Amino acid sequence: MRRSVIAGIGSYVPPRVVSNDDLSRLMTTSDEWIRTRSGIQERRFAEEGVYCSDLALEAANNALADAHLEPSDLDFIIFATVSPDHHFPGTACFLQAKLGVPYIGCLDLRNQCTGFIYGLAVGDAFVRIGMYRHVLVVGAELHSNALNFSDEGRDVSVLFGDGAGAVVLASSSEEDRGILYTELHADGRFAKALHMDVWNISRKPYLTHDSIDTGEIWPQMDGKTVFKHAVIRMAELVTHALKQCRMQPEDIKYVIPHQANQRINQLVAERLGFPQEKFLNNIYKYGNTTAASIPLLLNEAYQAGKLERGDHLLLIAFGSGFTWASALLRW
Ligand SMILES: CC(C)(COP(=O)(O)OP(=O)(O)OC[C@H]1O[C@@H](n2cnc3c(N)ncnc32)[C@H](O)[C@@H]1OP(=O)(O)O)[C@@H](O)C(=O)NCCC(=O)NCCS
Repeated sequence: MRRSVIAGIGSYVPPRVVSNDDLSRLMTTSDEWIRTRSGIQERRFAEEGVYCSDLALEAANNALADAHLEPSDLDFIIFATVSPDHHFPGTACFLQAKLGVPYIGCLDLRNQCTGFIYGLAVGDAFVRIGMYRHVLVVGAELHSNALNFSDEGRDVSVLFGDGAGAVVLASSSEEDRGILYTELHADGRFAKALHMDVWNISRKPYLTHDSIDTGEIWPQMDGKTVFKHAVIRMAELVTHALKQCRMQPEDIKYVIPHQANQRINQLVAERLGFPQEKFLNNIYKYGNTTAASIPLLLNEAYQAGKLERGDHLLLIAFGSGFTWASALLRW
């Protein structure tokens, strides 16, 4: 049986660092409030004029270089984002053009914080059935232009940052490596617990002159509901994956959790009885980068030399939708 392995990984964050103190000059908040509620100390914001696909391009090129591959080696692109360059066409098409590889298939995934894991699962399926040899899976976000930096939006805007991460999945005959297991879930009954209403296509016209004044252009979140469900679902993902793969907690070298809130991940580890050190984190540097958070964290661990051949890594995420998903990898 063929497996998909991560042949290369890369990430990119824009250079501009925005601290909690910087945000407290725009709205009524404080470094202390943000740090204690979320673990975030700073995040990166792109400059005006930069597109999400520009961040993705940097990450994709880094992943290709790490895999010792050229863009022309790619057979397919999967792009996960909630901050697309345009309403349509999909951002994967823009990235494909920037990579200079016309004709290959491109797919956009709108699965919020679980988008990267959903992308891995889809790419893995294509590779395993023998349809494609090299699939680029990207998670990238440019949140900063769509955040409300007034007091009304402060619960959401202090949490998010910009960034991108990418992997090249490659078909391999090595049975003992690669993506071993994926699990995908959603519960659309909670779709409006974290959502943005602005592209409401049921209205004629779907955008009005009031769209800015009513605040519908900004994301809206019921933070407590999201928090509560995230802890339950992410712990469940770990238990399921271990059971399905007949593994024990000690078989997992690291859990790579989505970086939404450090308190969420601490509670998940506690609930499972896992040592906190098994749960990697970098939210303090980047905030929540939605579809980019997992490849950013995975790449950081890889670059730091923390990952060794044969290590089992469990990727878990929860986000808007609600959606939740996991992927178990053998490095
Ligand atoms: C948003 C979140 C950090 C809020 O934390 P919390 O512990 O629920 O907040 P609290 O109930 O302690 O505090 C809410 C108070 O802080 C205020 N507040 C909200 N944002 C604030 C900010 N940035 N700075 C200062 N005060 C803020 C609120 O207005 C509220 O004030 P009130 O009590 O006077 O009405 C938390 O709910 C959360 O992280 N939720 C999950 C978010 C998430 O993960 N989203 C992405 C999913 S992928």
